[in-house]
Formats: sequence, C-alpha cells, structure tokens
Amino acid sequence: MTGSQTTRNAPEATEALRLVRVSKTYGGDGTRVTALDDVSLALPRGTFTAIMGPSGSGKSTLLHCAAGLDKPDSGTVFVDGQELRGRSETELTKFRRERIGFVFQQFNLLPTLTVLQNTTLPLKLAGRRVDLNRARAVLERVGLGQRLDHLPSQLSGGQQQRVAIARALVTAPSVLFADEPTGALDTHSARDVLTLLQESVRVFGQTVVMVTHDPVAASYADAVLFLADGRLVGRMSNPTAQAVAERLTYLGDEVARQRRQQRHQVGLDASVATAGRPRKEI
Ligand SMILES: Nc1ncnc2c1ncn2[C@@H]1O[C@H](COP(=O)(O)OP(=O)(O)OP(=O)(O)O)[C@@H](O)[C@H]1O
Ligand SMILES: [Mg+2]
Repeated sequence: MTGSQTTRNAPEATEALRLVRVSKTYGGDGTRVTALDDVSLALPRGTFTAIMGPSGSGKSTLLHCAAGLDKPDSGTVFVDGQELRGRSETELTKFRRERIGFVFQQFNLLPTLTVLQNTTLPLKLAGRRVDLNRARAVLERVGLGQRLDHLPSQLSGGQQQRVAIARALVTAPSVLFADEPTGALDTHSARDVLTLLQESVRVFGQTVVMVTHDPVAASYADAVLFLADGRLVGRMSNPTAQAVAERLTYLGDEVARQRRQQRHQVGLDASVATAGRPRKEI
C-alpha cells in the first residue's frame, strides 16, 4: 500500500482488494458510532495482511465491508477489480459465493454435516460442480484427509477451524478474510491454523486478510495495518511479534498525536481561509 495508490480510484490488475474512502456509521441520534472513517487501502494478490487495533476500532466492520457482508455508507470496495457498490443483496450473495472466503472465530460449521459435506457446501450453494477430488485434496492439505466422514462435534477446536479454512479455500476465492481465526484456540492449534494460512499465501498464491489481537499471529503475515477509532493509523512490513506488541502499546499516543496534528491543520486552514477576506469595519 502506498500513498499514491490509495488516492487513485481505479484498481490495478495485480490487486486483490482496494478500498477507496470507505466510511461506515451505526446507530442514529445519540447512539451514533463511526465504525470506519475514510479508510483507503490496496492489497496486492498473494499477500497476507493482518489487521490490528483496540477493541471497537472497526476491524470487523472493515472486514465485513470489504467482504460485501456489510455496505459502507460511502466509499467504494473493489474485489479483484470488481466494484461492490450498486449491487443488490442477491447479486452480493452471488459475488460472495464466487469470490470471497470467510473464516470466523467460532468456526460456524454446520453440526449435522460431515467434514467433507461442510467443505463442499459453498460449491453446492454457488451452483458449481462439486469436485470431490478437489475437496479431498484441500482437506488433505489442512491435515484432515483421514477425517472426511467425521462430524464437527467429533473434532477438536483446531481441527474444526481447519475444516472452516478448507471450506473457505475450496472455491479458490479472490480473498480469504479471517476474523480472529485463532481467538478460540490453544497456542498449538493456533500455530497450525496460522501456518496453514501462511502456506496458502506462499505456496498457493492465496490473498489473506486476517483480523487478530495477537502479535504472534500477526507476525505470520507479510504486513500489519493498524486501525484506531475507525481510521488506518499505521502499517508495518515484515512484522515480528515484539515489534507489533511495541507498536500496539504506543498506538494510543500515535492516535492522540495525529488528532492534535489534524486539529492544528484545521486551525491553519481556517486562518488561511479568513486571511484573504476583507476586514470588517469596526
Ligand atoms: N451492528 C452494529 N450496530 C451498532 N454498532 C455497531 C455494530 N457493529 C459494530 N458497531 C460499533 O462499531 C464500532 C466498531 O466495531 P467493530 O466490531 O468493527 O470493532 P472491532 O475492532 O472488530 O472490535 P473487537 O476487537 O472487539 O472485535 C464499535 O464501536 C461497535 O460498537
Ligand atoms: Mg471484531
């Protein structure tokens, strides 16, 4: 992501995701919350990006808007160069089924379907041919080749999340979004899931965007975007857990500094605007 890239509107052919000036508020008078405030970003294909920030900073809202699960109030989202704005709910559902993979913190598997059935479900919903060999190959990749006929209740949390990842990967989506995918897992299972996501990027060229609170999880990504009060306030390439943890500690200070700078700029703009005006006669 660069400054010049984020100000252009048209997406580049190499981009998996572009957000242009996306804003989103919830609630009305008295309960109004600005969840996203003028967010622009561009992510190349085949990259692994972590999104971090305090609770309530807008991470899930960003993911939902980018994945077409929620509609921004203003601004534009492009997935694989395709604009989401202006699509009906039915069109968006179709778009999501074809191009988006989503992994949730709580796995969200269907309890009465087997591992294989859960994995092939998105293909069925999208009306695509169910290629059982492909589904088996993806389940093999996530280490569950021997568990095809098991029900989710017969699996550990880490295994269930790996089924959820297989389900998200089976359609070869343009972007795989994951909202705190390791939030409900122990350290060991979390590492398996993160390695899997990283491998899907490095070996298979998948684009992954993951929200996480954990600096260790973020260190598996190629870059981290920091969000505070609905705004993008920083970016770190090749993150290490320690560098991310430090950055998070100072995020509050950084946000306060940016706000001061903004107020100062508004003050300057106001004085420039009034400087040229004829003085009123007293
Ligand atoms: N459906 C909703 N209705 C009203 N307010 C909402 C809704 N969804 C989110 N918000 C508000 O928008 C802001 C951003 O919420 P969001 O869920 O995106 O934060 P988050 O960064 O994902 O937080 P967490 O780390 O706790 O999951 C919060 O102040 C939240 O209360
Ligand atoms: Mg969230």
